[in-house]
Amino acid sequence: MEKSKFLTSLVVVMLVLPYANATLSIPKAKKHFVLVHRPCHGAWSWYKIVALMRSSGHNVTAIDLAASGINPMQALEVPHFSDYLSPLMEFMASLPAHEKVVLVGHEFGGFAISKAMESFPEKISVAVFVTALMPGLTLNATATLYTEIVALIRSSGHNVTSLDLGASGINKKQVLEIPYLSDYFSPLMEFMASLPSYEKVTLVGQSLGGFAISKAMESFPEKISVAIFVNALMPGPILDAATVFNEDWALATTLVRPIYFFSLNDVSKEIVLSNKKYGSVRRAYIVAAEDKVLKKEFQQLMIEKNPPDEVKEISGSDHMPMMSKPLQLFTHLTRIANKYS
Ligand SMILES: *[C@@H]1O[C@H](CO)[C@@H](O)[C@H](O)[C@H]1NC(C)=O
Ligand SMILES: *[C@@H]1O[C@H](CO)[C@@H](O)[C@H](O)[C@H]1NC(C)=O
Ligand SMILES: *[C@@H]1O[C@H](CO)[C@@H](O)[C@H](O)[C@H]1NC(C)=O
Repeated sequence: MEKSKFLTSLVVVMLVLPYANATLSIPKAKKHFVLVHRPCHGAWSWYKIVALMRSSGHNVTAIDLAASGINPMQALEVPHFSDYLSPLMEFMASLPAHEKVVLVGHEFGGFAISKAMESFPEKISVAVFVTALMPGLTLNATATLYTEIVALIRSSGHNVTSLDLGASGINKKQVLEIPYLSDYFSPLMEFMASLPSYEKVTLVGQSLGGFAISKAMESFPEKISVAIFVNALMPGPILDAATVFNEDWALATTLVRPIYFFSLNDVSKEIVLSNKKYGSVRRAYIVAAEDKVLKKEFQQLMIEKNPPDEVKEISGSDHMPMMSKPLQLFTHLTRIANKYS
């Protein structure tokens, strides 16, 4: 009885501790955090961080890039990378000259904040890359995105056929041409149909790709030696699609929006960085240790090639630490903000 009471209070203390630590580390001077989401997501993806920051008295602006979140533009109206970034650039331009913000980018949002660092270095006290692409002066943005990621996949030594589902990647269809999920899945279904009948493949699906590979398993069971769900939605005959979602998945799958696939040329032209500007802004990197999208080795490669002032790691974090490890991310962000104010 006594023991179980003690254990209960211990658990309560452990639950409260991260909060207490985070709260203690907050200085009198409040910060202004500007948060930039990954593609297809929006300001909403930071909702837990926004709540934590507001309740600690910080000013926080979560940006919706063009055609993202509640931004009124549609994907096809945003064919250039510069248009996509314009909400962030306009926001930075609108800041009073004396004001400095803490700029935070997630995943591909790392490119967005790099562009802002190059354009408004004097308005940024520190830029924080959260499991993000971090282009540098020597690390070519194009190479970062494509060459290295493809090499990482190839290095596993398997015959990897990476497919672009309808209107994604370099698939030639545009988003408005694929109103039905079956159209979206058709490149995978056609590929499966084209395989010789004796050939079996290992099918790997990530996130919503879990639905795509489930459809292929139902249609071509004899051509699949094993199906691997990587952090993916896994519907089944008993559990229907709806019940496998957790709350954050439910939120995310309701709010994701299609994005235009920007050409390599376009992105590379936009991300031109200089030592004098980008290089003058202090940088921190937050590693998500269990990220299945930007693998830890890949995050470390970027850190090695383009060393930031500070590196933190969130152990056990997947690709979405703002959803899965909000307290740890919040604590790191406020500590970094205090150190580089
Ligand atoms: C947050 O910062 C913006 C931009 O400087 C400013 O307009 C706004 O008043 C600030 N909000 C708070 C609550 O301080
Ligand atoms: C950047 O990468 C692209 C693609 O790999 C390559 O064609 C280009 O020459 C590279 N640029 C520099 C400056 O390294
Ligand atoms: C990989 O698999 C595809 C589809 O079966 C096949 O066409 C290709 O030749 C294979 N590549 C290698 C290197 O085995």
